[in-house]
Amino acid sequence: MNTYELIKKKRDGLALSRQEIDYLINSFTDGSIPDYQMAAFLMSVYFKGMDARECTDLTLSIVNSGATMDLSPIEGFKIDKHSTGGVGDKTSLVLSPLVTSCGVAVPKMSGRELGHTGGTIDKLESIPGMRTDFSNDQFVDITNRVRMSIIGQTQSLAPADKLIYALRNVTATVDAIPLIASSIMSKKLAAGADGIVLDVKTGVGAFTPHFADAVELAKTMVGIGVGAGKKITALITGMEQPLGRAIGNAVEVREAIDTLNGKGPADLRELVLALGSEMLLLSGVAQSRQAAKEKLKAQLVNNAAAAQFKAFLKAQGGQAEVVDNTELLPTSRVVIPVEAVGSGFVQGINAFEVGMATKILGAGRQTKADNIDLSIGILLKKKVGDSVERGECLAHLFSDGDEAKAKPATKRLLEAYTISPKAVTPPRLVLARVTSDSFEELT
Ligand code: URA
Repeated sequence: MNTYELIKKKRDGLALSRQEIDYLINSFTDGSIPDYQMAAFLMSVYFKGMDARECTDLTLSIVNSGATMDLSPIEGFKIDKHSTGGVGDKTSLVLSPLVTSCGVAVPKMSGRELGHTGGTIDKLESIPGMRTDFSNDQFVDITNRVRMSIIGQTQSLAPADKLIYALRNVTATVDAIPLIASSIMSKKLAAGADGIVLDVKTGVGAFTPHFADAVELAKTMVGIGVGAGKKITALITGMEQPLGRAIGNAVEVREAIDTLNGKGPADLRELVLALGSEMLLLSGVAQSRQAAKEKLKAQLVNNAAAAQFKAFLKAQGGQAEVVDNTELLPTSRVVIPVEAVGSGFVQGINAFEVGMATKILGAGRQTKADNIDLSIGILLKKKVGDSVERGECLAHLFSDGDEAKAKPATKRLLEAYTISPKAVTPPRLVLARVTSDSFEELT
C-alpha cells in the first residue's frame, strides 16, 4: 500500500477500506509513516469526514494497536462512563461510587486535563496518598475487592491514540467528529466494560459547541459501541456554564464529596442521577429510569455511596477520612474575592473562559512536564439566573498568591460573566438521549 495514495484518496473524499485504515494506523504506530504524512491524513479527515463504517474500522484499528483489558475475572456486569470533557465536570467522582453502591462493578480508566477542561486523575491526586498508576492486573484486583477503581490510562492500551492525539493537538485537528469518536471509543473498547454510558457535552465549554455536532458525535460513538457488541447509551448535556460551582482539583473533590454527602449543587446532582439511571438500566439492575433514579437517591440518603467512596479511596492508598472532613484536602495560600462590576441577573457564565481562567491561575499545566498546585481553583458564588448587586462577590479564586497569575485570571473570569437587567432562567442540562435504536430530545 502507498501512503501518498491513501492521503490523496481521503483528500478527494473517498472512503478507505479496513485494510487501508489498518495500514495507516499500524505503520504510524511502528514509526514507518512520518508525522507529516499522518498530519496530512488527519487534516483530510477533518475536511472530508468518514462514514460510519470507516469510523468503526478506525476505532478497531486503534484498539488493535495495543493490549485490551480482560475484565472477565470481575464478576457480574461491568459498566463504564465517559464524558467528552467539560469545565467543573467532577461527575465521575460521584457517579462511580454511587452506581457501584447499587451493585454494579465500575472499572474506569480516566485522563488528565485536556485543553481548557480538567481531568479526573489530576483531581483524585489531590486526595492525600491517592494512587492512580496501577497495572492492568492491579486494576482488576482492586475492582474485585471494592467493585470499582479509577486509574490512569495504562501505556499498553490504544498506543496509536496517544500518538495521533499528540499530533492532533498541534495540527488543529482535535475537533473532528470521526477523530474524537475513534479516540474516545478506542480507549473505552480497549478498557473492556460490558456497557458504556457517554456524556456528550455541548455548549461553549465543550469540544462540540453546536448541538447538531454533539448529536452527530453521540450517534457516531453509539454506532461504534453497538458494532463492537456493547450496551451503550449517550446523553447530550449542556456545557454553557460550568457544572456545579467548583473548578480546579481539590476544590472539585470537595464539591464531589459534598454531593455524596447530600449537600452538593443541584445541577451536578441532576446530571449524576441522569447518567446513573442510564448506567443502572444498561446493567439490568433497574427496570425503569424512574426506579433507577429512586434507587440512586436512596443510596445518597443512606450514606451507601459515601461509604463506597471511602472503600475505594482506601483501596487505592488515599486518605478515606477526607469524606468526613474535607479540610484534609489541600487548601490554597490565598483566597481572592472577585466582585461584580454591575447589578442585575447573571445571564451567562462562559464555561470555556472559566476553564481558561482556572488554568491561568495555576490549576492547569502550561507544558507537559509541569507539576500543578492541586489547591488552586475557582469557586463560583453566582450562577446563571442568580441576582447580583454591584460589589457583591461573584467568585472566590484559590490562588498561590502569585499576582502575575491572579490578575489575568480575575480579568478573564469577570469577562466570562454576562450580567443583564432581565431575570433569566438557568439553561437546561440534560438535552437529549441517543440509544442503539433511538434519538430523543428531552424537554
Ligand atoms: N477526549 C479524548 O479522549 N479524545 C478526544 O479526541 C477528545 C476528547
